[in-house]
Amino acid sequence: MTPSHNGKLFIETVGCQMNMLDSELVVGALRKDGYSLTDDIREADTVLFNTCSVREHAEHKIYSALGRLKYSKLSRPNQVIGVLGCMAQKDQELVFQRAPHVDMVVGTGQLAEVPKLIDAARERRERSLAVSLDRKEGSRAEVSDSFQSYDPLREPEMRPTPHQAFVRIMIGCDKFCTYCVVPMTRGPEQSRPPKDILHEVKVLADQGVKEVTLLGQTVNSYKVKQDGKLFRLSDLLELIHDVEGILRLKFVTNFPKDMTDDLLQAVRDLPKCSQYLHVPAQSGCNEMLKRMKRGYTIEDYREMFGRIRSTMPGASVSSDFIVGFCGETDEAHQKSLDLIRECRFKNSFIFKYSPRPGTKANELLLDDVPEEVKRQRNQEMLALQNQISAEDNAAFIGRQVEILVEGPSKSEVKRGDSGAVGGPVQLTGRTLCDRIVVFDGNPRLAGSMTTVSVEDCTPTTLIGSIVTQQIQHGSSPLLPILA
Ligand code: SAH
Ligand code: SF4
Ligand code: F3S
Repeated sequence: MTPSHNGKLFIETVGCQMNMLDSELVVGALRKDGYSLTDDIREADTVLFNTCSVREHAEHKIYSALGRLKYSKLSRPNQVIGVLGCMAQKDQELVFQRAPHVDMVVGTGQLAEVPKLIDAARERRERSLAVSLDRKEGSRAEVSDSFQSYDPLREPEMRPTPHQAFVRIMIGCDKFCTYCVVPMTRGPEQSRPPKDILHEVKVLADQGVKEVTLLGQTVNSYKVKQDGKLFRLSDLLELIHDVEGILRLKFVTNFPKDMTDDLLQAVRDLPKCSQYLHVPAQSGCNEMLKRMKRGYTIEDYREMFGRIRSTMPGASVSSDFIVGFCGETDEAHQKSLDLIRECRFKNSFIFKYSPRPGTKANELLLDDVPEEVKRQRNQEMLALQNQISAEDNAAFIGRQVEILVEGPSKSEVKRGDSGAVGGPVQLTGRTLCDRIVVFDGNPRLAGSMTTVSVEDCTPTTLIGSIVTQQIQHGSSPLLPILA
């Protein structure tokens, strides 16, 4: 097929891994049509924003970027500006009102239409709004139908990370936590058929992918009815585990209530599964959990956490927390800190509560914790989590860990003691329990497993050196791995 465009494309992506995957797929489709990517917004004739609505800050960032493009079309009359993703679905017409120079607003369920809509905008100066139904605008089936999962197969040369890939296993969310926009922006929960997922993983493995991360807003709620039987995430992991070439399997994000024993046992027993679970608690206080409508108590969370520990003592667990949710007292906040001390999460993502239009909390509860208090609680929680992460990472010093090498590290990590790690190429990789490791090595190691001896750490990173293979007793000398 001859590409029909030779235009330059700029895309900015905010939000979660789901959005990163969506952007990768949209960019892949456009590159197939002949577009080339640019980092310089000023030279782009197609400018796309893949947006997030989870907190006000994420939306603000995009509206500011759009504001800066207000006069850009005066010098580039052919320019097309598109707003994609969650904020497109949430704000719809409002995007055009706030930024009249936008040509297209495309929700999470219409991403397959992006190339066609760009053409319509450029050739006929047609403005388009392509979004799904609101959750109350039709029956469940109708609303679900209006959110189409976008999962085209990827071309190997268009993959941004050759050895790692996200694979969507479900879209949407039905939990309706009171603070959260995702059930509106991503629609009803829908799981993809296992055979489609297996096929996608096989294709990716053939393209050289070594690590697959399965994505879902509540990934462990995955379920498909097959021949009258329920097919769950544990079944899916088993199904794709033996795909040749894949070395690691991960999945995010888990919902505490759906962390069933069959899943924990699958993660324990399948050797390629990362011994890592991201299971957000959100708060350590029952009153807050109830107001958030999370559907579990802190006792339930502890019970679940206990099952993770007893099934997989070496696994690491991470969490998300919201500080300053409606009515959060100092005592409630202390309970969240207590939970962090007790569970010793590998890391926690901590967010200040941000009221979101269209959510129950925004409608019914008062955002009564002052910004300054939210800020203090955020800092206090972060300091505690960092202290725990640093202590637990320090326990790795002196040990050898087996890691999957990801590639050159994006930012140089310094040793605590003796300055820079030194050497020309710093690589990163992850242990089976998802700890980040940096070390010096040959970039060709990317995508392979290697052993690193840990010598130092920061709260987020282990720092070490590649272990050259020992001369085996009674066998001929082996070349060092770093030859
Ligand atoms: N589906 C995932 C997370 C979705 S959003 C899950 O349920 O765990 C990612 C994180 O953003 C949430 O875990 C929550 O901690 C945070 N978040 C969501 N809505 C928020 C809001 N209105 N204000 C602040 N943080 C929010
Ligand atoms: Fe949002 Fe709750 Fe669904 Fe997570 S489970 S996406 S926090 S509604
Ligand atoms: Fe944001 Fe949408 Fe993800 S709201 S967090 S980009 S699902």
